[in-house]
Amino acid sequence: MDASTGIFISHHTHSTEELVRALSDLLETCGVKHWFAERDIRPMENYAEVIPGVIERCELLVLLLNEESNASRQVLREVQYAERLKKPVLVARLDDCDESQTIAYLGATDQQLDLRSLGAEQKAQKLAAALCAWKAGEQPEVEPGALFQYERAENSLEFYGDEGERERLQSQREFIYEFAHEEYDALLSSVRDAVFLDVGCSTGEQAMLFLDGRSEIRQYVGVDKEAAALEKGRELFPQGLFCQCDCESDAFDDALREIEQTLDIDGFDVIHISMLLLHLKEPQILMDTLRGHLNEGGRFLILDIDDGLNVAYPDPDGVFGRAVEICAQTGYSGFRRSGRQIPQLLYDVEMEDVRLLKQGLSTVGMPREKRTAFFNLYFWFILDDLRKMHAQAPQDKLIESEWQWFEKNYKDMKNQFKKKGFFFNLGFLLFSAQ
Ligand SMILES: C[S@@+](CC[C@H](N)C(=O)[O-])C[C@H]1O[C@@H](n2cnc3c(N)ncnc32)[C@H](O)[C@@H]1O
Repeated sequence: MDASTGIFISHHTHSTEELVRALSDLLETCGVKHWFAERDIRPMENYAEVIPGVIERCELLVLLLNEESNASRQVLREVQYAERLKKPVLVARLDDCDESQTIAYLGATDQQLDLRSLGAEQKAQKLAAALCAWKAGEQPEVEPGALFQYERAENSLEFYGDEGERERLQSQREFIYEFAHEEYDALLSSVRDAVFLDVGCSTGEQAMLFLDGRSEIRQYVGVDKEAAALEKGRELFPQGLFCQCDCESDAFDDALREIEQTLDIDGFDVIHISMLLLHLKEPQILMDTLRGHLNEGGRFLILDIDDGLNVAYPDPDGVFGRAVEICAQTGYSGFRRSGRQIPQLLYDVEMEDVRLLKQGLSTVGMPREKRTAFFNLYFWFILDDLRKMHAQAPQDKLIESEWQWFEKNYKDMKNQFKKKGFFFNLGFLLFSAQ
């Protein structure tokens, strides 16, 4: 008797039963063995007792990810169990649900299949085709470079929850401080008794470097979508008010109103947005919402990046230029032409007195060890992003070749970067508007 249960279909019954039945019919036609609860649990069998054994004997778990399954504790248990047993998992994304919950348990090598734009029938067909190909030993087909991102895109990244991103933020902090502390000092010394709103605050550590010891700030308020970052922020800065909210969601406006009620204020005096806009798909919506919560005479203070302002010299073979181009496309780094859009974003919400306070952080005058840290800040993380993308889509030849190219040139670039006369300018930008 064949002990294998084939493909285990993990899903939320009511929302996807029809899809699962259609998928099952298609899998039958190409002889792919599979298991799903509605068909395969026999009367009188206990669900909780049967499932672990079925997962132990399956070859692949397919997670049909939608809002309902993402919120289902049973589905979460199934995915966790499969991960614990190191079973391969294929995530079939059915809708735009927040993927931070169930998917957070998955390993980097688990595959994803995006079915979001398809109708019900096509979803079943595309998934069945991928599973039949998988059974036949073929890698699922992917468009080369599908993970490369050329413009603003939906932001489904984890920041504080991802070790690499957490490290990136940590090493970025002191460089951003060095880049802009004089301008922050000048601007903050001109406010009084101010309430400071930090949007996309993470742990608050970046803003607090600038605010430390400043008596002009009466209250710090940090907003972020990641609970763990906020938890850390509360521990580090108990005097601050930290609130969890997705600033791209419709609920953001109400969340700000609630904060204002709690603090008994009409709005905020300084709205600070540091390294967030590059990760948003529609920053103008955020700006519009925030504009309604800025006090009369209040200011925006926006720090962002534009890699179009990066300069590397000498770069006779164009290696640095190419590395910057690659960075512009790795989705993990956000939209790398974000900085140039800020004046327009500010004028569109009728701000006045838009100023570019500072642009570009360069290697000039940096000691050798600092240059190494600066190199890592930018280039090591591109390498890490490519590594992650390759793990996510190992069959994507374009990503593989960019990654190999980067690995091959990395050491030489690093040595070149450390030389005293080598010039690198990173396109940080700091804007204010009143
Ligand atoms: C690159 S980090 C910058 C953190 C901090 N502002 C700094 O300058 O170091 C971006 C932060 O924005 C948060 N973020 C991204 N998209 C968000 C959204 N839609 N709503 C709220 N926070 C968001 C992330 O969780 C992350 O903490």
